[in-house]
Amino acid sequence: MKLNQFLTKLIPTNSILIISLFLLGSLISQAETTPCDHAHPFFDVEDCCLSCKPTTEANKNRSLHALTSPTASSHRSCEVWTEACSEEVLSFAKRPENVEWLKMIRRRIHEYPELAFEEFETSRLVREELDRLDIGYRFPLAKTGIRAWIGTGGPPFVAVRADMDALPIQEAVEWEHKSKVAGKMHACGHDAHVTMLIGAAKILKSREHLLKGTVVLIFQPAEEAGNGAKRMIGDGALEDVEAIFAAHVSHEHPTGIIGSRSGALLAGCGFFRAVISGKTGRAGNPHSSVDPVLAAAAAVISLQGIVSRESNPLDSQVVSVTAFNGGDDLGMIPNTVVLGGTLRAFSNTSFYRLLQRIEEVCHQTHSLSYLF
Ligand SMILES: *[C@@H]1O[C@H](CO)[C@@H](O)[C@H](O)[C@H]1NC(C)=O
Ligand SMILES: *[C@@H]1O[C@H](CO)[C@@H](O)[C@H](O)[C@H]1NC(C)=O
Repeated sequence: MKLNQFLTKLIPTNSILIISLFLLGSLISQAETTPCDHAHPFFDVEDCCLSCKPTTEANKNRSLHALTSPTASSHRSCEVWTEACSEEVLSFAKRPENVEWLKMIRRRIHEYPELAFEEFETSRLVREELDRLDIGYRFPLAKTGIRAWIGTGGPPFVAVRADMDALPIQEAVEWEHKSKVAGKMHACGHDAHVTMLIGAAKILKSREHLLKGTVVLIFQPAEEAGNGAKRMIGDGALEDVEAIFAAHVSHEHPTGIIGSRSGALLAGCGFFRAVISGKTGRAGNPHSSVDPVLAAAAAVISLQGIVSRESNPLDSQVVSVTAFNGGDDLGMIPNTVVLGGTLRAFSNTSFYRLLQRIEEVCHQTHSLSYLF
């Protein structure tokens, strides 16, 4: 029996931190004791930071003064990040004109969902908004993707990313801004992600003079297809980037709540497909055919054992067989069965180990099937 395997190897998308843009603030808040810290360069600390002198008592006092003095409101922005700075950013975001603008953008994207690598109109809309905001960008990356930037154009580069693609799902909810494209829907909320990043772009642009580095905005295609990120990276989306932030909307959390944790939060994801070839024949004479259904069934059982019997229970992993397609003539043994599924893991090591074991199990099934 001949066994052909096609294993699709996809780069793990693990370790993407889910942190809202507003947390850029808390990233910086540690600068409070060391206003001139190169490790927290996203702060304009006025002249003091040009040479980055060590913090002196006088500087500390000056910072405190700047924070509390009503005349220092124009400097509030940034000697040290405080709640007042957050409030300032938040109130800018909540201005009615900004709220209406973003609502309009989100609804437009929602009404015209586009699938992976087809985000042409979504990408055009993003670029139009970037043009209006006078923000530079590179396009296209990975067909429809965009890399924009705000700041000095120099290091450090910190990226914020949004995915753009919709899902092949029919929107069932009747409402004014329902998807106008049959069979496609922003069911995963990427319309919101794009909108959030455009909103962040406006806020960051309004504070561009305060940045001491560059914020890279990444609008990425094909998150659902699993390989948009890989292609974006291949096209240079992360050149010079030292850190990257992303957020995903969640219906499991109340509005206004941001969830995260240290360590990996999302698993890397890959897919596999194996074509198991036998020899077709009448089902009534099984001895004169080679049955790929039995071989494939054995493979499914063995694949289940990889995670349950071989993986560390504290290192979460998934192997799911999601496709099992053979013949449809009830009286015939089919020529081939196509097996397929998906794998998930949090570490690169576990991811590649799963991939290797899936490959081996399919090969073992192949050897086994010679016994039939
Ligand atoms: C800083 O402020 C503290 C408390 O107000 C004060 O005791 C200290 O003398 C000040 N230091 C300088 C260098 O101004
Ligand atoms: C992940 O593991 C594979 C296989 O061992 C290796 O080729 C690749 O470079 C690793 N990638 C990272 C990011 O560590």
